[in-house]
Amino acid sequence: MRISKVLVSAEQIQDRIAALGARITEDYRGKDLLLVAVLKGAFMVMADLSRHIALPVDMDFMAVSSYGESTRTSGVVRILKDLDREISGRHVLIVEDIIDSGLTLQYLRRNLEVRRPASLEIAALLLKAGLQMTPVQVRYVGFEIPADFVIGYGLDYHGKYRNLPYVAVMEENGAAEPPVQL
Ligand code: PRP
Repeated sequence: MRISKVLVSAEQIQDRIAALGARITEDYRGKDLLLVAVLKGAFMVMADLSRHIALPVDMDFMAVSSYGESTRTSGVVRILKDLDREISGRHVLIVEDIIDSGLTLQYLRRNLEVRRPASLEIAALLLKAGLQMTPVQVRYVGFEIPADFVIGYGLDYHGKYRNLPYVAVMEENGAAEPPVQL
């Protein structure tokens, strides 16, 4: 597998995140906003997006893992790290790096909704167009992308490449040299 092309540049990501942050700032002004990032991939978008939200936000983190191979079809995920605190009555915004099948978010939404937040919305940097096996209501979307295998900006290939500042396509026979050597 090799990096074949940059799909979303670092500059495009930063511009879009700034715009989403401005929208979120307006939408949640005067409200108690809790950002919830889903580890590991979302750490990068959480760090950048939160710096563009001009409100006193709180942050928490969840880590989830699939039950073996069945997740892609069943949508059952295991919570490795739950939220530190209650979310009852709070305005919760889930921050994700990418939505693929949508099953992770469907599970998380159901899991968090029973905790009675005042509101529950989703922000995702990347949405793979047309791949969702379940309808996912995503209020803030950075970019709709094709169904390619992508890495960078939090997304990994065997644990690596999360630190790339851009999102790139990885292919079995990628022709180009990696734009950045890592
Ligand atoms: C990615 C991403 C989402 C999920 C989306 O996480 O961060 O949580 O997959 O896929 P879905 O829409 O098909 O459910 P991943 O399982 O790769 O874990 P990681 O963030 O720790 O790399």
